[in-house]
Amino acid sequence: MTVEPSQIADEGSVAFAQSETLEAVHELELTYLGPQSVLSGLKASFKDLDVAERKVLGSQMNAARQKLEAAAQGRREELESAARAAQLATEGVDLSESLGKAKLGHSHVITQTWERLEDVFCSMGFTVADGPEVETDWFNFEALNLPPAHPARSLWDTLYLDSSQLEGLGQEQLLLRTHTSPVQIRSMLRAVRDNSGPPIYVVCPGRVYRRDTADATHLPVFHQIEGLVIDRGITMGDLAGTIESFVKAYFGENMTSRLRPSYFPFTEPSAEFDISAADGSWLEVGGCGMVHPNVLKAGGLDPEEWSGFAFGFGIDRLAKIRYGVEDLREFVTNDVRFLSQF
Ligand code: DAH
Repeated sequence: MTVEPSQIADEGSVAFAQSETLEAVHELELTYLGPQSVLSGLKASFKDLDVAERKVLGSQMNAARQKLEAAAQGRREELESAARAAQLATEGVDLSESLGKAKLGHSHVITQTWERLEDVFCSMGFTVADGPEVETDWFNFEALNLPPAHPARSLWDTLYLDSSQLEGLGQEQLLLRTHTSPVQIRSMLRAVRDNSGPPIYVVCPGRVYRRDTADATHLPVFHQIEGLVIDRGITMGDLAGTIESFVKAYFGENMTSRLRPSYFPFTEPSAEFDISAADGSWLEVGGCGMVHPNVLKAGGLDPEEWSGFAFGFGIDRLAKIRYGVEDLREFVTNDVRFLSQF
């Protein structure tokens, strides 16, 4: 015998191991295992052998074939997995990258402002209180020291509801609240009822309504935040300090505030508070004052025992100032080019 099967197997195994491509593996398979291969050619010598010798040669050929097949298969798998790895490296998609690019939505700038205001006041020790948008005349006006036909009622262009159509509501005049101030009354009555106060330190953000035509500085539906503090010995100094702390926390340390005498039926004395602008001018932000004794009484509190201050301002107007928005209507026209800036 000229060539031993095991020799062919050894030589072939080395060749498979050194092959660099799947095509090369295939070529080698034809060379070492195909019908024209040296191994297959050995069958021709069977005719010169006796039965015992054929058996020996047959099993040597089988062993060689198995070894060569295993070498081919092993190398093919190595090359395939290397090719997969190379493909992944070049065509791979970085999913974290696509996450960054995805256009995710976010809260409306008014919601962001509302939530920031809550955060600022909560960090100052206030809690958040709530009240209905459909109010009674009593909560919106009368309890706030604005009896029927009080001339100052005309300061609030009110949307009244025809409650005669609604059964079971009694004679109460319903309206869409024109400010968040009725939550002052609700907070006092709630505290008295639940025995949870005074002291009361609450802010009440919410939606309010006025019979107004929308223009650059007015919206018929807008947002306010009300603040109410009731405790013993509260003074105008506490009010001024609270406003100043708020302005610094919300707008930054270089901003300041001032109080200007004004009139509101539910506070006495009353003031308007302004914040400083970069150019040295003052921007009017909201109203405030010491809670009127009649308001404390309507809230179920004794004005001899308790005193407090209140303030209220527009959330939309504050966002307008903070972000330099020219026209309040931008907030409600839902133009994504405007909204996506915030
Ligand atoms: N409710 C007033 C308004 O809508 C704002 C206001 C002024 C609220 C003075 C107050 C206050 O709590 O003390 O115009």
